[in-house]
Amino acid sequence: MGDLVTMDDLTNEEIVAILDDSERLVPVARGVVNLPLLEGKVLANMFFENSTRTRMSFETAMKRLGGSVLNFSSVGTSVSKGETLYDTMQMIDGYADIAAIRHPRQGAAQYSADAVEIPILNAGDGAGNHPTQTMLDLFTIRQSHGDLDGLNVVLVGDLRYGRTVHSLSHALVRFGASLTLVSPGTLRMPKEIVADLRSQGSEVAETESLQEQINHADVIYMTRIQKERFPDEDEYAKVAGIFKLNSSDLSAAKKGMIVMHPLPRVDEIDPNVDSSDHAKYFEQAFNGVPTRMALLCRSLGVEVPKEVK
Ligand code: CP
Repeated sequence: MGDLVTMDDLTNEEIVAILDDSERLVPVARGVVNLPLLEGKVLANMFFENSTRTRMSFETAMKRLGGSVLNFSSVGTSVSKGETLYDTMQMIDGYADIAAIRHPRQGAAQYSADAVEIPILNAGDGAGNHPTQTMLDLFTIRQSHGDLDGLNVVLVGDLRYGRTVHSLSHALVRFGASLTLVSPGTLRMPKEIVADLRSQGSEVAETESLQEQINHADVIYMTRIQKERFPDEDEYAKVAGIFKLNSSDLSAAKKGMIVMHPLPRVDEIDPNVDSSDHAKYFEQAFNGVPTRMALLCRSLGVEVPKEVK
């Protein structure tokens, strides 16, 4: 049984084992194989902030494994009457076996994990972390490149407030990837995160220009400039639309280079990239199902069989 609040909750060996489990669970995620490993278990999907992929892929993962789901959102519940996060989580402790929580406040997942007995999976806490997204990102990179060691991964966009890149960068350097961080000056990766990444021994470069990075990248990970995280709308207006990847930009990219995005996108990847062999963001979104299946099993202490058929 275990919480997943940040990537520090998993060793490299555990990450690899979860990715291996995810691989075997793909036919179950697609509904081709029936494997009710979580029959009788209940997942509480606690979403205090909007989500399409994370909430729905958790729900699909749980249902494909024979479990059931309680869906919570801050609209239509007693949160609107002033109920605290602590009290809300006390209820969930009695109603469910495990909870995925998304919250606009950084630290809310750890607070919830400290408040309850059931395992908590952080489904995104403000500008903090998004470790289940990182697991599906690593799975997607491994699918295309086989390994992470020695890859040049270019992270682009809102690196200041972007929880996906905070979690992912941390995991990538642990596996020997080199990072290039591309953002406008106001959205640079926080200094303490950059220092932590460099302390792991990997190369970490920072720049404001995307174009010069494209041709030597193995992975380009685009992110949205998140309007909702800006304290000042004028500051958002200065950087909105600053990075736009177009299919013509990819003409000299490495053959195996992949373009990823946690989604939703606004205008940072032109739809004309979608039909390119480089585009992996929709497969990446599907990969949320097998990886979240594997994470649910791990946190509930259920072993994924070595052969799934
Ligand atoms: N990638 C991601 O977290 O998407 P949602 O916000 O739709 O869950």
